[in-house]
Amino acid sequence: MLKSVSQPRIVTLYGRGSARKLHSRLNVLVAAFLLSCLAYTFIFDSFNLPLGSACDTISKDLSKPRIDAGNSTLGFSSILALSVKPSWRSRGLLASAEYSGLDIQIPKQPFIAPELVEAFKNIPSKTGKQPSSGSAYAWLAHLDLIKHAVTNNMETVLIVEDDVDWDVNIKTQMQLISDNLRKLTDINNTDKSPYGQAWDVLWIGHCGEHTSVDTPRIEFSDATVPPRNTYTGWANKYMYNIDAGKRAIQIGVNPVCSFGYALTLKGAEKVLDWAGKGGNEAFDIRMLQGCQTKDLKCLVVNPEVMHHYQPPKELGYTSLVAESDGKGVAADEDKFEHVMGGTENIRESTRCKVLFDTTCVKEHRDYWFKQT
Ligand SMILES: *[C@@H]1O[C@H](CO)[C@@H](O)[C@H](O)[C@H]1NC(C)=O
Ligand SMILES: *[C@@H]1O[C@H](CO)[C@@H](O)[C@H](O)[C@H]1NC(C)=O
Repeated sequence: MLKSVSQPRIVTLYGRGSARKLHSRLNVLVAAFLLSCLAYTFIFDSFNLPLGSACDTISKDLSKPRIDAGNSTLGFSSILALSVKPSWRSRGLLASAEYSGLDIQIPKQPFIAPELVEAFKNIPSKTGKQPSSGSAYAWLAHLDLIKHAVTNNMETVLIVEDDVDWDVNIKTQMQLISDNLRKLTDINNTDKSPYGQAWDVLWIGHCGEHTSVDTPRIEFSDATVPPRNTYTGWANKYMYNIDAGKRAIQIGVNPVCSFGYALTLKGAEKVLDWAGKGGNEAFDIRMLQGCQTKDLKCLVVNPEVMHHYQPPKELGYTSLVAESDGKGVAADEDKFEHVMGGTENIRESTRCKVLFDTTCVKEHRDYWFKQT
């Protein structure tokens, strides 16, 4: 069909007989151009020289870091999900992973005895803050998962919580993040990994982060960024410090919530050491503290590209952390699978796409810290 549409234009230029010939000639030309771009890229890459503009665009699209950032593990060695038991959370997660072409593993979590939770809660803390039972339990579960990554020698790992959600464009979002993270950390061109090794924690899923014009960062255009006036949460006012329609990769200042974070192997070992002995009110806050004291090298994507999905509160939704703290009982799971909830700050939720075939940006925030 397309051919017959384009032929008349060719006919007026070259006459009927040569239309087919021209097609094949054009194909050869395009192929030659692509090949020379590849060769050009290869030569210029080897000498670390900047590329010419026409080839630049093409070669960037074909570059290894970019391709890998869009692979089924988003350019990390593995994606691991923290999941205590099968539920609407993990079923929705796996359905979303399938929709997005992601490979997410859910390692079996070891049993955490209440005595261990109690002991962990009571470790003396320099900040004077200690976790609740629910937070201590979640904290220990994160540590177990990180140990799993270290034991398996994962060069990089993305850890997500099982109620996490992401945009249907997650792969292209991660490709942009890779491009700009490589710029921000000034990666040696011989390193073809999507994100390099110049960080301990790469925080892509959170519920808010500070940013100002003084924050070391790179802003980049991303059509999937939520409009600033729809960004919800405590960090809404900071969104106005980032140009409209742009996302930033920045140094970690005050990221909160551990919906999705990546670790380098060295970073994973550091987090085990830093967060293995308690020291604050929750795992994410302990990591945040490490970002601030520079015990951890943290990079943050702002606004986030992962955020947790929440079932409608009217159905009696209580988080697992709140349940462990005796603040209500997480309601029967089944009904959550049939009534749509929402996800803050994600324009095109994958969960809502795959489960309800619609979008579900959650506009009004249920105060996260009131609930947990
Ligand atoms: C995706 O890319 C990363 C980085 O190169 C690599 O470690 C990982 O194995 C790739 N994932 C798959 C499924 O090939
Ligand atoms: C880049 O890394 C290679 C291999 O590790 C090293 O030989 C080279 O000196 C590095 N180049 C720069 C500019 O740091």
